[in-house]
Amino acid sequence: LESSKHRWELHGKITHHKKVSFGDSPTNLRKGMTVLKKLQSLGIEVLVEAEDLENYGRDWTRFHKVATCGIAFPKSTDEVSAILKACGAQGLPVVPSGGRTGLAAGAVATQGELVVNLSRMNRILDWDPLSLTLHVEAGIVHEAVQEFLRPQGLHWPVDLASKGSCQIGGNLATNAGGLRVIRYGHARRWVQSLKVVLADGRLMELHGPVEKNNAGTSLRDLFIGSEGTLGIIVEARLRAASLPKNRLTLLTSVPSLPAALEILKELRKKQLPILAFEFFRENCLQRVLEKTQLRPPFRNSSAAAVLMDLELADVSEIPESLSTADTIVAETEEQARNLWAYRENITESLAQLGFVYKHDLALPLRKMPAFVEKVESEFSQRFPGAELYLFGHLGDGNLHLNVVWPKKDPDGKLLSLCEKQNEWIFSEVVALQGSISAEHGLGLLKRKYLSFAKSPTELEMLRKLRKVFDPQGLLNPGKGIE
Ligand code: FAD
Ligand code: MLT
Ligand code: ZN
Repeated sequence: LESSKHRWELHGKITHHKKVSFGDSPTNLRKGMTVLKKLQSLGIEVLVEAEDLENYGRDWTRFHKVATCGIAFPKSTDEVSAILKACGAQGLPVVPSGGRTGLAAGAVATQGELVVNLSRMNRILDWDPLSLTLHVEAGIVHEAVQEFLRPQGLHWPVDLASKGSCQIGGNLATNAGGLRVIRYGHARRWVQSLKVVLADGRLMELHGPVEKNNAGTSLRDLFIGSEGTLGIIVEARLRAASLPKNRLTLLTSVPSLPAALEILKELRKKQLPILAFEFFRENCLQRVLEKTQLRPPFRNSSAAAVLMDLELADVSEIPESLSTADTIVAETEEQARNLWAYRENITESLAQLGFVYKHDLALPLRKMPAFVEKVESEFSQRFPGAELYLFGHLGDGNLHLNVVWPKKDPDGKLLSLCEKQNEWIFSEVVALQGSISAEHGLGLLKRKYLSFAKSPTELEMLRKLRKVFDPQGLLNPGKGIE
């Protein structure tokens, strides 16, 4: 359906002046009009200009056509609650939205839903230096949390390249991983308590401002990683940790993935404190060099590289096997940042190439070489004309396998091909007891492959659970487990 773009006028009229597609969602659009009027009468900020719908109606992915009736920007928990009540009264579905850096199409509206974006709820509410907890609203940008903690020698130990845009609410809704999981684990570990608004508008505080709370089953962890399907996270108490006392950043070239794993094995054998252990293939590095002003790190070309942060005070503690001509050790903070730039620019550099389909796989480390060998041996036959880009958080067993064509996909053929080949990739992953998503989640993009993610019994339980929290099915419909 091609419906007209509507614009909310202050005097309470919706005007139509430009064509916008609402997909198959005329009903949601109609409900949306009623809800938008209600929200305006309550003084809640709403955007309905075409560019805003397009911009706030999606995350980092570009696979789906956006269709949203409007974007609401609550400024308080009460406003979130009022929005969900208004949507519930009309049966209008909602897409919770944070910094929109998600890579699984979890914050994409495709059915005329109302997008509820948390950006205006970005305050630090309290800092408790005794318990080392920071109480924040969910829309605070990740980096703002780090900027508050850093001068005190502390950090929230989740670190990811999207830190300048992603929000704490989004980090928790995806249980974000990132560059320091090998040392600190996922976001889940660094949360003391949550406040969530349920689909019916009621507020729940989960766990409270105490370190220990064993008074019955905890619901807190259910919301972490639930991709906006169980409720909207409005506040969190985050646990802070001391910044590492020392950090040595090293970049070393390796001839192969097994060689990279040998380095990891040696570090583990020597019980050296690893803060990060990242891997990327040479073609990833080449694309970064083309996009940025960075100079090639190695004198000779190398098949791949390992980037490590070790919590060591002195270079003399670096294992001898790493003291080769092909290892660069950062001597200053700036040099360390430059080494990290090779890794942190990969996603954006690949995004410029044409069509990118991302896999975010978890595999038992010892089975990873066999998996990669298998994928490589069949890749060109299964993905004609595509190039394979491999990188990831190798120390965590998390492989970002990117299938890239140097052209766009106007008719959706490349996407269809990737989706067809997912069956093959995911079967291989499951056969090795891996997971089809190590950190990005299922969203709209991977939800078709639920049978590769969970057992039938687990799926049944999760579906029932979703119904308990959201009987009308209004929170992020079509995403995750349904
Ligand atoms: P959004 O994209 O806005 O939303 C993500 C999901 O959370 C959606 O399902 C949405 O509905 C839900 N949601 C958002 N806010 C709320 C809320 N307040 N309450 C309930 N549900 C909510 N991810 C990693 O795990 N590790 C990485 O290393 C990593 N690196 C990245 C690097 C780049 C360059 C980019 C672009 C992305 C990267 N990501 C990574 C993915 C992404 O940044 C994370 O998934 C991040 O946690 C998403 O946060 P966000 O605020 O952008 O969420
Ligand atoms: C990363 O590790 O850089 C992210 O997960 C983003 C990506 O997979 O491209
Ligand atoms: Zn990642």
